[in-house]
Amino acid sequence: MATYEIGNQGLLRTHTCGELRDDHVGQKVTLCGWVNKSRDLGGLHFIDLRDKYGLTQLSFKEFSGDLSILKKCHLESTLMVHGEVRSRPAEAQNKNMETGSVEVMVTEIELLSGCDIDNLPFLPFGEKDATENLKLKYRYLDLRTQRLQNILKVRSQATVDVRNILNGEGFIEVETPILYKSTPEGARDYIVPSRVHPGQVYALPQSPQTLKQLLMIGGTDKYFQICRCFRDEDLRAERQPEFSQIDLEVSYVTPAYIKALVEKVLKKLFKLEDDFVLPVMSYAEAEERYGSDKPDVRFGLEHRVVTDLFKDSDFAVLSKPANDGGLIKTIFVSEEEGSFSRKDTDGFVDVVKPHGGKGVALFKVKDGARSAGISKFISDDLMKSLEEKTGFSGNGTWLFFADTSHDVVHSSADALRRHLGKTLNLINKKYAFLWINDFPLFEYDEEEKRFYAKHHPFTMPKAEDVDKFLEGGHDNWLGMRAEAYDVVCNGYELGGGSIRIHRGDVQKKMFEALGMSEEETQAQFGFFLEALRYGVPPHGGLAFGLDRLIMLMVGTESIRDVIAFPKTNSATDLMAQAPSIPGQDQLDELKMEFKK
Ligand code: AMO
Repeated sequence: MATYEIGNQGLLRTHTCGELRDDHVGQKVTLCGWVNKSRDLGGLHFIDLRDKYGLTQLSFKEFSGDLSILKKCHLESTLMVHGEVRSRPAEAQNKNMETGSVEVMVTEIELLSGCDIDNLPFLPFGEKDATENLKLKYRYLDLRTQRLQNILKVRSQATVDVRNILNGEGFIEVETPILYKSTPEGARDYIVPSRVHPGQVYALPQSPQTLKQLLMIGGTDKYFQICRCFRDEDLRAERQPEFSQIDLEVSYVTPAYIKALVEKVLKKLFKLEDDFVLPVMSYAEAEERYGSDKPDVRFGLEHRVVTDLFKDSDFAVLSKPANDGGLIKTIFVSEEEGSFSRKDTDGFVDVVKPHGGKGVALFKVKDGARSAGISKFISDDLMKSLEEKTGFSGNGTWLFFADTSHDVVHSSADALRRHLGKTLNLINKKYAFLWINDFPLFEYDEEEKRFYAKHHPFTMPKAEDVDKFLEGGHDNWLGMRAEAYDVVCNGYELGGGSIRIHRGDVQKKMFEALGMSEEETQAQFGFFLEALRYGVPPHGGLAFGLDRLIMLMVGTESIRDVIAFPKTNSATDLMAQAPSIPGQDQLDELKMEFKK
């Protein structure tokens, strides 16, 4: 490899491709980068050389070597060039390029690594967009784009900022094991078979929840970790099977401390005003007004509950759920916010279907006259009651969501509200953060007739409910609230946490409430229950989803954008082809065989 004027600190280059300006004119420089563009203007050769910092035009006008080398310098090949920085003639200056007033007059060139252009799957800077799967398969090519490089930079800076804040508050970063035991957060575990203990497995942590609590019991006082979590669950736009958390835990703490800390972090990352304070909304209010525990409050279109008004209706689709313990919610879209064609409203069913909704009933109002949809079932009296109950009035469209399942109504109305917020362009704020608190302690599954932890099984019931909790029983547990809180932004759950159970009797009762037998509890959490017997500081904490934080910071709706090597929605890595079939020797060593 030729050595020209080697740059400082052992780098092959003296400058980056984004660095040269008028001040550098006359200097001898060495640049390295990819061929971004190559032009032959009737014997005058130019190359735009690119690295992550920018582009520089190379001119071969005074090149005395063999120009045939340029034939091998295909797009996306890497080059090292040496030459002198020159001012471009006025008519050749490019205002759209940061280095556009200069060019490098090349005297020497070395092709560092040629690109097999005939087989290159796509040009990262090409005009034609490659499919997402092709980009994932050749992620290293897609990573050459400025967009992904910028995102990696934002992510890196965010972790530096968070570490600085937490260090300043006296937190210490502690790594916890990846090969561990089940840590229930509501998903399936990824498991790893042990060679040394045939027939036994480790579980990858869904979060370091029990470990960080054990660190509190171990006297760590203020812990944090930027850690990887693994969850085998249905993937969505904001979910990956492995993702990162900013995980923290504090001893002798109340929610107020955690909230102040979270506000400090958000202020720094999102450059919010100094006096920024997160608004607070209870879970019950969020469910009633938005049908979601992670509402997007950047726009209106709030829900109103109108179940009672339809008990006597002649329209069975509404009267039936109203009389059978179901729920009816309405959303009003004023004329100013938007109006709908028949095609638009016919499409609403596709929005609610994935949430169990069977359809959306509607009618329109124009200058006091009702039309379309279910208008014939809306009497003047009912109209008056609707307006009184909801506070909605005037010209616009009334939308109704009805079902015997309350969950179906909440999530259908939530989905359509989000859909309308976007399609009607009602979102005019960049960020809307809020706390959701007063979560229920449990979710009750009617079919399985059992309780699930709403947050996780280590969450403390509200202090005033602890005695009732210990008394136990379905009726006592149903509707009980937890000392848990989520931080939400733009419709995403950014983070969640709680005050933990630090009492052995309460923790034991929790496992019982979740339907675990004494034996199961001992086998899975015996060690943890024992730790609760030896002096425990009351403690609490929270975990941010780091990937989601970065998604919001850079304004993307796909979590894959913010992860260097993400997986697809079916949890595969298209680049390395993972998962893959293990070798027979590996299976033999593990004493494993797969069922056919
Ligand atoms: P939780 O399960 O709410 O709490 O997770 C905390 C945050 O992690 C993010 N998150 C995810 N991000 C991407 N892909 C996923 N599959 C995924 N799952 C969760 C979310 C979520 O708010 N141990 C508790 C925290 C605690 O109580 O301190 C926990 O893990 O942004």
